[in-house]
Amino acid sequence: MSKRLTIPRLAELKAAGEKITMLTAYDYPTAAIADKSGIDLLLVGDSLGMVVLGHESTLPVTMEEILHHTRAVTRGAGQTLVVADLPFGSYQTGHTGAVANAIRLVKDGGADAVKLEGGLEVAETAAAIVKTGIPVMGHIGVTPQTAVLREGYKVQGRDEAGARSLLQAALALQEAGVFAVVLECVAAEAAAWISRRLRVPVIGIGSGSGCDGQVLVCYDMLGLTRGFVPSFVKSFADLAGDMEKAFAAYAGEVRSGNFPGRGQAFFMNETEARKLEES
Ligand code: KIV
Repeated sequence: MSKRLTIPRLAELKAAGEKITMLTAYDYPTAAIADKSGIDLLLVGDSLGMVVLGHESTLPVTMEEILHHTRAVTRGAGQTLVVADLPFGSYQTGHTGAVANAIRLVKDGGADAVKLEGGLEVAETAAAIVKTGIPVMGHIGVTPQTAVLREGYKVQGRDEAGARSLLQAALALQEAGVFAVVLECVAAEAAAWISRRLRVPVIGIGSGSGCDGQVLVCYDMLGLTRGFVPSFVKSFADLAGDMEKAFAAYAGEVRSGNFPGRGQAFFMNETEARKLEES
C-alpha cells in the first residue's frame, strides 16, 4: 500500500521553501494520473458542480455528489493527500451538522481532510471539526459559495485595508487549527505578504507566485472546461481539442466502415464459419 503524504510533510515543504502542488480531481483515472505525476494534494472541489455537472455555480452541489466523487478519487490517489470540499449548506447550520458531514467525507468517502470557505465567520466551525481529529483546509479571498452575497468574483486585497482584513481572516483560521489556507483571487503582493505571515502553508489560485503552493481546477488547466475559464489559468494541454479530433476520427471510421477492423473483432474458427455460410 502506498504511503499518503502527511500534513506535517506539507509544513516541512513550506519551511524548506519548496512549492506545494495541488489540483482538483473528480474521478479515479484523473486521481491515479495525478498521483503518478507527483502532485502533492488533490481537491474534490465543489467546482465539480460547474466543470463536471454543468451547473452555473457551486451552490447546487450536494454532500451525496461530493461523497460519490471523493470515493472515486481516493481509490486512485495513492500517495496524494485528498481534500474533500464541504459543499454549500453542509457546514452553515451549526457545528454538529458540520462535524457530522466532515466525518462522512472521511469515513464514507475516504478523504484525508476537508475544506470549507470563509474567514472569521467559520473559524469556530473549523475548530470544532479539527477537534474531532479531521484536518481542515481554509479558503478565503474569492469564495464561490458566497460570491453573490459578497463582491462576486472581484479580486480581493487590492489595497492595504483589504490585505489586512484577509490576514486577520487567515490568522483566525490558523488559530482554529487549519493545516493550510487557500487564497483565491487575491492581489499577488497581498498573497505573498500573507503567506510570509502564516505558519501554515498558503495555497494560491489566481493569487500570484508568492504563495507556498498553487492549485488549479484540473479541467481548466487541461483545456477541458466548457464555457468561462478565468484569466489566471494557464492551459497546459488542449484535451477538448484532442477529444474533438478523436471523436470525429472515430465517427468518420465508423461511417466509412474502417472501424472496427480485423484487429478489433472476434472470429469463429473456419469450419464453424463455413457451416454457418452453407446453412
Ligand atoms: O472547488 C474548487 O475547485 C476550489 C478551488 C478553486 C480551490 O475550491
